[in-house]
Amino acid sequence: MSQLFYIKASPRGEQSFSVSVADAFVAAYRRAHPRDDIRTVDLFQKDLPPFDGAALQAKYAILSGGRPTEAQRGAWRAVEDTIAEFKAADKYLFALPMWNFGIPYRLKHYIDIITQPGYTFSFSPDQGYQGLVTGKPAMVVYARGGAYPPGSAAESFDLQSRYLELWLGFIGMGQVRRLVIEPTLGQTDGGVALRSQAMAQAEAMAPGF
Ligand SMILES: Cc1cc2nc3c(=O)[nH]c(=O)nc-3n(C[C@H](O)[C@H](O)[C@H](O)COP(=O)(O)O)c2cc1C
Repeated sequence: MSQLFYIKASPRGEQSFSVSVADAFVAAYRRAHPRDDIRTVDLFQKDLPPFDGAALQAKYAILSGGRPTEAQRGAWRAVEDTIAEFKAADKYLFALPMWNFGIPYRLKHYIDIITQPGYTFSFSPDQGYQGLVTGKPAMVVYARGGAYPPGSAAESFDLQSRYLELWLGFIGMGQVRRLVIEPTLGQTDGGVALRSQAMAQAEAMAPGF
């Protein structure tokens, strides 16, 4: 039995292209893998621990081999719990909107919490940086208001997939499957055809994931 960790990074509920298509992926995945556990995290609902003074001081104290204070340790425990929940999964699914050419701030906050040396990556002078979340596939459903096709002049504005996949690779996840929904804005039918086409594509991809 595997655990699929489903991370929703859009707050738009049923209106969201990325969430409705990722939901279709989950439904098809459940039919194909009925014994698997599916854990869903909605980043706009989740109580993410602040990653500010105390957590940062704890991080720097640990990095420099020092001893964090009790308050810093408390803040660090919340970081460790969030990392443990993330690392417990075997497979990852992201529903990801493009915001200002990049990713929504709640996902950036989440990434800032879980990307920690000794937990999700390591560094040594001999071996450089190495990801510690290895052997786990990821599937990303990207939604964008505009279109950023490979080879086009707009491609360089796509810091959404570039950043996410760079980060996934950094923590060790080299196998990334992608489904791109674009352009979600300006569709004459409100995106009905685009959405249902992407849902069918997601349903076809789910059983082999
Ligand atoms: C705050 C915000 C910023 C956005 N920035 C961009 C952008 O830079 N480029 C783009 O093509 N679309 C942009 N959009 C449009 C969204 O990418 C589009 O509506 C997409 O469908 C959102 O994903 P969702 O439907 O899963 O929520 C933005 C939307 C919001 C709310």
